[in-house]
Amino acid sequence: MTEQLRAALKENAQLVEDTLTEVLAGDDPDFNRILESARYSVLGGGKRIRPFLVIEFCRLFGGSVESALPFAAAIELMHCFSLIHDDLPCMDDDNLRRGKPTNHVVYGEAIALLAGDALAIRSLGVAAGNPYVSPQIALEAVKLLDRASGIDGMIGGQVMDLWGEENPLEMEQLRKLHAHKTGALINAAAQLGCLAAGLPESDERRRAAAVYASNIGLAFQIVDDILDCVGSEALLGKPIGSDAEQGKTTFLHFMSVDAAKQRAAELTEEAKRAIAPYSGSETLLELADYLLDRQS
Ligand code: IPE
Ligand code: IPE
Ligand code: MG
Ligand code: MG
Ligand code: MG
Repeated sequence: MTEQLRAALKENAQLVEDTLTEVLAGDDPDFNRILESARYSVLGGGKRIRPFLVIEFCRLFGGSVESALPFAAAIELMHCFSLIHDDLPCMDDDNLRRGKPTNHVVYGEAIALLAGDALAIRSLGVAAGNPYVSPQIALEAVKLLDRASGIDGMIGGQVMDLWGEENPLEMEQLRKLHAHKTGALINAAAQLGCLAAGLPESDERRRAAAVYASNIGLAFQIVDDILDCVGSEALLGKPIGSDAEQGKTTFLHFMSVDAAKQRAAELTEEAKRAIAPYSGSETLLELADYLLDRQS
């Protein structure tokens, strides 16, 4: 990773951390346990890639960091909800996330379920309440989050993922699965950045952002599948071999690790081509390369 990207990731992550801390404020003793559980999974961890995309696309297209931050926090809340539920015994049944015991291991399944629900709902409220954009843009953001997370988005992808535990999938179905369970939120992050910068849907820069995001999104999940096979648990902060244990269909059912890496590299190049013409896109170009080579 370049020094420049490392600094940008760190700086944005701190801004997002501050916003998330505010969003999860509260001290009613009757709600202590759910607040604690929500904060446990949201604060102080994760690469914060999706919020980074919101902030950097907003910057790239002339928007302010202030207007991006509520959308950045919203997408991270939605992502954290998906992680808590993804780890539950009825889903992937994993006990390590971001280097710590998973939410249900610490707080029990019922609280983990409710914390996930609460984060998803709060995500929409935080986006709707963005004070730095027009009500119309805030509404667009909420609709975008809804579509990206729901039945036609991340949740649809998770359902295909569960189906793929018991049933053989065609390569095309697996691509669709990845594009939904992981690609949808990554795409939404890029689009939220464009929205925060005030770009209408018809703007060609929104399409360039979508091409970039859908390609890095697919590459991201291919790399995730590779790391689940050949990564290091200590670096990843989550268990290795979880996919095999659950009988998941992954890219490695169709190709070798090397061929999957090659496919991810091609997607990364295609992503970069989409935004390279825009001046100021260096950080996002570097991000694509870093995500391809990441070990965590
Ligand atoms: C993990 O996402 C879940 C997938 C979609 C593969 P990340 O790798 O972005 O996880 P964190 O947020 O950095 O923990
Ligand atoms: C990501 O897929 C799923 C979502 C959280 C939407 P995985 O199940 O592969 O993610 P990890 O490997 O547990 O992070
Ligand atoms: Mg899963
Ligand atoms: Mg999982
Ligand atoms: Mg995985």
